[in-house]
Amino acid sequence: MKRWLLGALLAALAASAVAQAPLPWSDDEVKAIARHGPWPPPAPSDPSNRVAGMPNAIVLGEHLFNEPRLSADGAMSCATCHVAGRDWGDGRAKAMGRRELDRRTPSLWNVGYAHWFGWDGAGDSLWSQSIRPILDPREMAGDAARVAGLLREGKALACGYERAFGHRPNGDDEKLLVDAAKALAAFQATLVSPRTPFDAFRDALVAGDREAAARYPLAAQRGLKIFIEANCAACHFGPRFTNGEFGDVGIPFFTRPGEVDSGRLDGLGKLANSTFNLLGKHNDDASGASALRTRHVQRLHSNFGEFRVPSLRQLGSGPFMHNGHFATLEDVVKHYSEVNPDRLHSDALPLVRPLALTSEQSADLIAFLRTLSAEAPPRPTPPPLCP
Ligand code: HEC
Ligand code: HEC
Repeated sequence: MKRWLLGALLAALAASAVAQAPLPWSDDEVKAIARHGPWPPPAPSDPSNRVAGMPNAIVLGEHLFNEPRLSADGAMSCATCHVAGRDWGDGRAKAMGRRELDRRTPSLWNVGYAHWFGWDGAGDSLWSQSIRPILDPREMAGDAARVAGLLREGKALACGYERAFGHRPNGDDEKLLVDAAKALAAFQATLVSPRTPFDAFRDALVAGDREAAARYPLAAQRGLKIFIEANCAACHFGPRFTNGEFGDVGIPFFTRPGEVDSGRLDGLGKLANSTFNLLGKHNDDASGASALRTRHVQRLHSNFGEFRVPSLRQLGSGPFMHNGHFATLEDVVKHYSEVNPDRLHSDALPLVRPLALTSEQSADLIAFLRTLSAEAPPRPTPPPLCP
């Protein structure tokens, strides 16, 4: 037998001999892991948006998402910053609009399942959040008249509007701006991230299928134990690995000398003052139930320095945190390993404590975090607005 062939055979034998078993998992651990699934969840619903989930609105929304004429200089669309092939972000530490912004462009994966939007929760619906970049002078610098004009006069867009809303574009400029945002929201709510190796493991564990569970790499299993032990799920909870709320993990928040980004505290002020919040007239939900959270939220001093807990699915290659403070996942894990609870800005009960991980443990935790991602199929070209 040829030497190389023998070697290959021996290697294959050795690999099968150590065919791994899953680590032992207690009932409580299995319960904790089960709460991070199943994936994908049922499609999101949004009673505040009368065209949510409607196929023709989704098509219109995708065209608007790629439409640079929504911006003042006709050069910037949503897709300029939320790039399909980059997990709907831009890979920059801070977003680049007409000038550099103070925050990172968040991924739009699974955004339809959120209830607060933006790093500071200044939006309480996906459609109101979609209006913000259109009007922001630092971003698309557009206005309601421009958007309304496009819908009324842009031939294909007017036809796409009619198919989505069931009538010709009508109403004042502000109403048409909101309708455009509702179509944008219908599209974005379809962006659901793919199933991952973690999901296969989670389902196997819940089903008691040891053989399938054993296919999940041991390093990731060890990392998952650390994730549970450290109670990361206090904030990174549920199938999306976020509770959708806000937290402070001690990321410096100076934007430039003498200026801070107070996060949630400022976001709550903006939310209360917005014409487009769920308490306003543009909410399509006659029952008013969708506005409950907004009605009862309180602005507390402890909100100072809090930012929205990001999902840990499709983490990508960074940078990370609201301001891109960390370039790599290694840096993030080092932060959690060494964080000084006295440095937390928020005076809420601290939920993070220094983990003092060894380098092996850090590598395991990172191996686990990487299994929360999978390659997404490339985005097909959207169907025409008016076939
Ligand atoms: C200049 C880059 C840029 C452009 C253009 C842009 N965005 Fe964003 N987007 C951001 C940044 C930065 C944030 C975070 C904002 C914040 O926290 O204040 C964000 C946040 C969001 C969010 C909230 C996501 C979440 O997880 O809370 C949604 C939804 C969104 N953008 C949709 C859009 C849509 C729709 C458009 C086009 C109408 C658009 N964006 C245009 C940079 C951009
Ligand atoms: C107190 C709630 C809380 C706990 C507990 C917590 N996190 Fe976070 N995590 C956050 C918040 C909030 C951010 C964003 C902070 C910011 O942008 O300033 C974040 C950011 C991250 C990010 C970066 C994600 C991104 O897209 O930028 C990772 C990775 C992460 N956390 C992992 C973990 C791990 C691992 C643990 C457990 C060791 C953990 N977190 C514990 C609240 C928490």
